Amino acid sequence: MRHMLPWPMPVPSRRRFLAAGLAVLGTGAVASRSSRSPAAETITLRKSAAQKGLLYGTTIAAAQITGDRPFADLVRQEAGLVVAENEMKWQVMNRGAPGNDDYGPADTIANFASGNKLVLRGHNLLWYHRTPGWYFDLPDRTAQERAVVQHIQQLAGRYRGRIHSWDVVNEPIEPKDGRPDGLRTAVFLETLGPEYLDLAYHTARNADPNARLVVNEYDVELDAPEQEARRVALLHLLEGMRRSGTPVDAVGIQAHLAAADGPPFSAPLLRRFLADIANLGLTIQITELDVTDENLPADVTVRDNRVADTYRRFLDAALDEPAVKMVVTWGLSDRHSWIVRRETYQAKWRSDDAASRPLPFDADLEAKPAFDAIAGAFANAPQR
Ligand code: XIL
Repeated sequence: MRHMLPWPMPVPSRRRFLAAGLAVLGTGAVASRSSRSPAAETITLRKSAAQKGLLYGTTIAAAQITGDRPFADLVRQEAGLVVAENEMKWQVMNRGAPGNDDYGPADTIANFASGNKLVLRGHNLLWYHRTPGWYFDLPDRTAQERAVVQHIQQLAGRYRGRIHSWDVVNEPIEPKDGRPDGLRTAVFLETLGPEYLDLAYHTARNADPNARLVVNEYDVELDAPEQEARRVALLHLLEGMRRSGTPVDAVGIQAHLAAADGPPFSAPLLRRFLADIANLGLTIQITELDVTDENLPADVTVRDNRVADTYRRFLDAALDEPAVKMVVTWGLSDRHSWIVRRETYQAKWRSDDAASRPLPFDADLEAKPAFDAIAGAFANAPQR
């Protein structure tokens, strides 16, 4: 079944969605996408978002474009924006020497976007976690600075004019590292000092003047002391950038959420934080939204409903802030999710053999309750 809206609607929040859907359609008929009726209108995440002036998108991988046609078709249908899950990361593109990068897979994604009139996000120019090995062996600061500048000029320059927004520095904050300013003491800070941020954002602005420049960070929606420290440090960084004229346009909230585990997501804290960002004159993008079902019972209905509920609660809070202009899920179908693949942070995900179900569509590309939750949150969001 393709997210056919049940009638009568059993859950009050879904009823709100239905009412909104009916208003949009103006016909009193809400039909699933698989319906044959010519009068039936399909609800998609892209259209539900666009009705409110929001941009909805997903990650995609080059191998999915070339090797999974049904999935690529679903992306074309549902998304208004795509972002490379890995193909634009420095370490992933690099062939082992400064300036020597393979643009093939990244071009596949950029061309998929332009060929289908999809907006393209850039992820990312610098991430401590995906820095080529040779960078650590560079002899001195001059060589390190040259490598960073060359990389940004080359990557952002290649797609100049085609990128909506760039995550210039990914995950710059880590209060646990103990600096008073809360900056992460990883590779770029260690080699270039905190000025690396200014250098990176200016270089990106020059390389692609029309791209919105984003600071992308994780866990800032959580209710825990260390995440409050992360919020404070990020605001401090943004205030400093605004004061000193470092070009920054938006904040990316990754939002990798957990339905059951870890510190809870806090709607009041998130609302306050988003308002603080908006007060700095910045826009906000939800950049990597997904919801793990780790430590939930194996029962699929239970899991799907809890995951959907987490999407709904998060988006209801986030979308109330008018500065939020974009929502990107970190994948579209459980068929292709880093959580299901368990390629990183494995220990965190489900400990039984059940496949995780973190995204709006299942592995067979059928819509799940998470789809209804996301489309419903878009329908309920204030107009941009
Ligand atoms: C993840 C990808 O989804 C995985 O395929 C890869 O193995 C590791 O990176 N925060 C980010 C993303 O900014 O780049 C990460 O993507 C997920 C966490």
